[in-house]
Amino acid sequence: MKIAMVGTGYVGLVTGSCFADSGNEVTCIDINEEKIAKLRQGQIPIYEPGLSEMVLRNAESGRLKFTTDLESAVVPADIVYLAVGTPSSDDGSADLSALWTVVRSVAPHLRKDAVVVIKSTVPVGTNSKTYEMLKESTGRECDVASNPEFLKEGAAINDFTMPDRVVVGVRRSEVADTLQALYAPFLRTDKPFLVMSPESAELTKYVANALLSTKISFINEMANLCEKVGGDINDVRRGIGHDQRIGFAFLFPGVGYGGSCFPKDVRALSSMAHDLGVEPRILEAVDRVNDCQKEVLPNKVEQHFGEELRGKTIAVWGLAFKPKTDDIREAPALTLIDRMLAKGAKIVAHDPEAMGNVRDHYGDKIAFCEFPMDALDGADALVINTEWSEFRNPDFTDMKNRLTTPLIFDGRNLYEPTIMKRAGFTYHSIGRVTVFPE
Ligand SMILES: NC(=O)c1ccc[n+]([C@@H]2O[C@H](COP(=O)([O-])OP(=O)(O)OC[C@H]3O[C@@H](n4cnc5c(N)ncnc54)[C@H](O)[C@@H]3O)[C@@H](O)[C@H]2O)c1
Repeated sequence: MKIAMVGTGYVGLVTGSCFADSGNEVTCIDINEEKIAKLRQGQIPIYEPGLSEMVLRNAESGRLKFTTDLESAVVPADIVYLAVGTPSSDDGSADLSALWTVVRSVAPHLRKDAVVVIKSTVPVGTNSKTYEMLKESTGRECDVASNPEFLKEGAAINDFTMPDRVVVGVRRSEVADTLQALYAPFLRTDKPFLVMSPESAELTKYVANALLSTKISFINEMANLCEKVGGDINDVRRGIGHDQRIGFAFLFPGVGYGGSCFPKDVRALSSMAHDLGVEPRILEAVDRVNDCQKEVLPNKVEQHFGEELRGKTIAVWGLAFKPKTDDIREAPALTLIDRMLAKGAKIVAHDPEAMGNVRDHYGDKIAFCEFPMDALDGADALVINTEWSEFRNPDFTDMKNRLTTPLIFDGRNLYEPTIMKRAGFTYHSIGRVTVFPE
């Protein structure tokens, strides 16, 4: 099939590459000229494991192309995917301005039998409004499907090529058949292809992200409680996780969720509920708990040093909102760095992939180290925000020698408190008692 992928971000680039890899002819379109120029030269604008190889392989074979010229890609397309960003507006609702711009731009170039597929995460009713807009500008009834994406950054290719399920919302079963044929190479292990109404498909994506966010906020609130009673949240996790009704997934305490999806999708679903006259009590609490959780680590640092951090150097390991991505959108590390800078601290940071994005954000307000251990030289404390695997087994003796004081604030519970105590550290973590050197 010939596919036009409008929006070449984390989702568009992964989706486009995977469809090209399964034999389709895909053209990825973006308004960002620099991004397209780089992709044409074989440079991948984001970090995603395995993506570079896949893009290069398919670009070389001629199945994957990149352009800023929407018309040339849409005119021949059997399927036009819309994968532009849908960020939060100031009032928390989803900002659909990029999507509406694209819908207006593709309309004049659509083939009569083309299917338009909304891949972006969009509020209920967006499919129907897209259908109406296309009908008005083309004078005919266009097929508009909703096909929400469930991939995770950091494991995007695996998630896309081996999905737990594929969800499509359609008005005509023939459109579902077309999409099922497109997805067939990825559903060979009998994973379900779920066909529903566009409205149900639109809602499904928000409900999935809202439930995952709820689990995170729930365990974070329990972790805070655990600290107060002198318990260990990891023991509690084990105690509940073996209950088959509960399980272990997404019940890791930490510094709060970030990224380009959970925060904005919880807020957008809340906003949608409000508009429909439904009080989103759980969703609002989930969002509030998460905002507070991002402050837990900076609070611990300030409790230790006092409010004045002038003259202190804080080493920060982990800037991306999670491992295996360079995405820093709504990353808890940014909340921490903002607070530390406001209190006068000097920040020396390391992240395996996200330093470029953070440098664009802060300029020379913070310093960076290519190697994690170098960030510790002369620092008064280490703060860990992201559980990159390279942080899991450091040389504690070397760490102690480099830090001015052996002090760690671990927002991801990477180490065992008893081991840290024995190694001579003051070690703060989440939902577990703070330990001090023996
Ligand atoms: N990132 C994820 O993990 C993820 C997962 C599932 C779903 N989603 C959803 O997918 C959608 C896209 O997310 P993303 O993370 O890929 O966003 P992104 O910001 O990485 O990419 C969006 C791209 O769209 C481009 N764009 C904007 N306006 C355009 C226009 N008029 N024409 C062509 N291109 C245009 C931007 O330049 C950008 O490159 C969002 O709705 C998001 O909620 C994201």
